[in-house]
Amino acid sequence: MFDPIFNLKGKRVLITGGAGSLGTLITSAFVERGASVVVQDLNANRLEEVINSIPDSSGKLFSLTSDLSSAEECKRTVEDASKLLDGLDIVINTAGINRRKLIEDVTPEDFDAIVSVNMRAIYFISQASHPIMKKGGGGVIVNMSSLSARYSFNTISVYAATKAAVSSITRSSAREWARDKIRVNCIEPSVIKTDFTKPLWGEPHRTKWFDETTPIGRLSAPDEIIGAVIFLATDASSYITGQSIVIDGGILSGGDWDSYKDN
Ligand SMILES: NC(=O)c1ccc[n+]([C@@H]2O[C@H](COP(=O)([O-])OP(=O)(O)OC[C@H]3O[C@@H](n4cnc5c(N)ncnc54)[C@H](O)[C@@H]3O)[C@@H](O)[C@H]2O)c1
Repeated sequence: MFDPIFNLKGKRVLITGGAGSLGTLITSAFVERGASVVVQDLNANRLEEVINSIPDSSGKLFSLTSDLSSAEECKRTVEDASKLLDGLDIVINTAGINRRKLIEDVTPEDFDAIVSVNMRAIYFISQASHPIMKKGGGGVIVNMSSLSARYSFNTISVYAATKAAVSSITRSSAREWARDKIRVNCIEPSVIKTDFTKPLWGEPHRTKWFDETTPIGRLSAPDEIIGAVIFLATDASSYITGQSIVIDGGILSGGDWDSYKDN
């Protein structure tokens, strides 16, 4: 049914932040393709909804509730996932938060909260996954960065800094762990139409800005990131490591000076 180079059948996968908008879609796409998935999140109620929304998982879908803002819980989460799955082939680091404020309003507590989930959790989830994947003969890590790693907006200074760090951690871990047959890549999506970003796209002038600035002419739908995640998680990308795939509808491709011409 699926092309073998995109094969996920039998793969043992941990998806953090898996009860979120994108995590739920990724979980469902992986289970549908035959992977065994531990879906992790802080939000136990939403985790239960995710599990119930994927009917045909034949006992291959497990949930784990934990708070990844703690490095100890990151380690425990990976160890528990590995026990449930009897090993670990793929980790998708999706958990993330934001607190949108102008720089002058950001408190040290805001700063630490965003860093602890977006940056530190990815680092320590990856660190804990490394020995398990190494022992199993290799693995793949896909990190959820953001276009804001290189193209920021007002009110997301700390978030953007953490996403630049995610892209950097991706490169560092790819370098160190290539020798252990572990590939590490990330995706950098522009604003996707999810609840997480509703404050950004929910106002008409902002949607207008995105529609007019994005060469493809619209914001992306949540399921438009799935192809890139599957590509990076499977042998389809077997010689790619340390890379970021920008999913931005062409925003970074350049500008349109002719739109300034008098009509
Ligand atoms: N939606 C977008 O436009 C967009 C664009 C680029 C990147 N991203 C990134 O994609 C990822 C998912 O985004 P989303 O739109 O699905 O957001 P979301 O808020 O729906 O999902 C994030 C999930 O992370 C979980 N989480 C938060 N804190 C946690 C913690 N301490 N421990 C464990 N889990 C925790 C939340 O409960 C939530 O389920 C995030 O990392 C986000 O930064 C999103």
